[in-house]
Amino acid sequence: MCGIVGYVGNRNATPIIIEGIKRLEYRGYDSAGIAIINKEHELKIFKEAGKIIDLERSLPAPNETSGNIGIAHTRWATHGEPTTTNAHPHTNCCNTIALIHNGIIENYKILRKKLEAEDHIFVSETDTEVLTHLIGHFYREENNLLLAVQEALKLVEGAYGIAIICSDFPDQIIAARKGSPLILGIGKNEFFVASDVSAIIIHTKRVIYLQDNEIVTVNKNNFEITTINNKIVTAKVSEIDWDVSSIEKGEYKHFMLKEIFEQPKSVGNAFRGRLIPELSTTRLGGLGLTEEELRQVERLHIIACGTSWHAALIGKNIIEGLARIPVEVEYASEYRYRNPIIPDNTVVFVISQSGETADTLAALREAKSKGARVFGITNVVGSTIARESDGGVYIHAGTEIGVASTKALTSQVTVLSLLAVLLGRMRNLSSTYGTTFIEELIKIPEKIQRILDNNEEIKKIAGTIKDSTNALYLGRGVNYPIALEGALKLKEISYIHAEGYPAAEMKHGPIALIDKNMPVIVIALKDVIYDKIVSNLEEVKARKGRIITIATEGDETIKDISENVIYIPQTINVLQPLLSVIPLQLLAYHVADLRNLDVDQPRNLAKSVTVE
Ligand code: F6R
Repeated sequence: MCGIVGYVGNRNATPIIIEGIKRLEYRGYDSAGIAIINKEHELKIFKEAGKIIDLERSLPAPNETSGNIGIAHTRWATHGEPTTTNAHPHTNCCNTIALIHNGIIENYKILRKKLEAEDHIFVSETDTEVLTHLIGHFYREENNLLLAVQEALKLVEGAYGIAIICSDFPDQIIAARKGSPLILGIGKNEFFVASDVSAIIIHTKRVIYLQDNEIVTVNKNNFEITTINNKIVTAKVSEIDWDVSSIEKGEYKHFMLKEIFEQPKSVGNAFRGRLIPELSTTRLGGLGLTEEELRQVERLHIIACGTSWHAALIGKNIIEGLARIPVEVEYASEYRYRNPIIPDNTVVFVISQSGETADTLAALREAKSKGARVFGITNVVGSTIARESDGGVYIHAGTEIGVASTKALTSQVTVLSLLAVLLGRMRNLSSTYGTTFIEELIKIPEKIQRILDNNEEIKKIAGTIKDSTNALYLGRGVNYPIALEGALKLKEISYIHAEGYPAAEMKHGPIALIDKNMPVIVIALKDVIYDKIVSNLEEVKARKGRIITIATEGDETIKDISENVIYIPQTINVLQPLLSVIPLQLLAYHVADLRNLDVDQPRNLAKSVTVE
């Protein structure tokens, strides 16, 4: 989704804000632009459709782009095609105000009509341009820029993170948010605004997370935060506790590969400090629930999107199995609009890596408005979902840059399994099981590493399916959501159509697709339904499907029915997804890479989906 960076200080703003938006490239975008105020106090705008490199190439000589204040934007098109005209920044009629925007102005059509009737001339198709003209309109009336921004934002329906500069105030940025993330970075005699910490972390680790309806006015020496109703706000300064190396690729070709390889560590981080071996249970202090309250939980709703939704499905299987508590899993986009029934003693969990996904946030708010206690399972500290939840659990996976989510899933599943044991041990789950779970969980990072050590072999197998046009993923039980996840990974980065199915469902329809050209990737691990899934495999083989099996180490017989086998270590059933997903992530990665595709920034996708 769109990215925002702004700088005011003593340095030349242009290289700083360009570098900043490059750090946001991973979020997905299709055009980019900057606005600066130069030494002569002139507002200069440069924008370009395509990549940031195209924008850089189009810039005039450095002396024409230098100034101590600037804003930059990467746009992910929603209203209007990804053209240079539609790219941000947008300006008011007299070209004194430049504005960049993340989010969607829902009532832009009505506002645009009114402004056009008052002789405002629009040049783009965007919803954003309305905001610029609206602020320009109030600025003309009030002659006070902050007041004009406040008045304009009061009329706006929708979501926004905005940053504004104006040639009448050549050392000041105004930025505001509602629904879209925005932070203020505090440096020495310089300040930054950004939609994402990674844009500015090389300059400062001291930040303020703006809240909805807050507006910051900042120059190189100080800042003031007010609300939209002009009340002064005292904000808390937070310290970012990770460093720049976590947002750099290092020795890896792509962020996705780096993040796949980080999983022994990230999974360890998700359970570290949360195991209580002496009581054969776990602790999740961030929930802030007493033992009594945890015992009273009768039902869970888990809400999420995409890969996080797959983690939720795995969580359902584990929690119902171990804690015997019914769990409903739902897409956030559906939950928010269907007037969900939330009985007493139901707790709602929302899962979001970014903590900013618009649908998940809206579902959280819907559940809260119905009186439910809502807990977040998030990765990004200080994200909107983390802040708006009644409590929660950070997965501590570290920054995930690759658009295709990998390490977040394994960390989310780890946390959900801790939750299952916590709830289970307060009910009927035996201490023997609790102990086995802890012993097995501790071994998972080393087992993931063993699978990663087989990377070259998996790459070879990827070579055998890289030219396919379709693929089918099959799994059962706790590995059925992993089949869905494997298919999602393949389709989103390699553009090969792929579907995931519970293996036994295949004969109810998808079997019609199987022929000698169809790769069928099957998770067939040694557990109670192993024999059943082998029968499903026989059905595929009988129709000449090309079988790639994810199998348990030591299972030699599976070779007879498979074209290729990828072995993973044995573990207890509930922890299998933490292992079975790894080869599927690697398989998707290598297929996309062998097809020479942009693995980290697949077409049309954005890392954090902050629009509906
Ligand atoms: C797929 C992927 C997406 C996200 C989804 C939710 O690889 O990354 O499906 O999982 O957009 O994002 P979060 O977890 O940030 O709410």
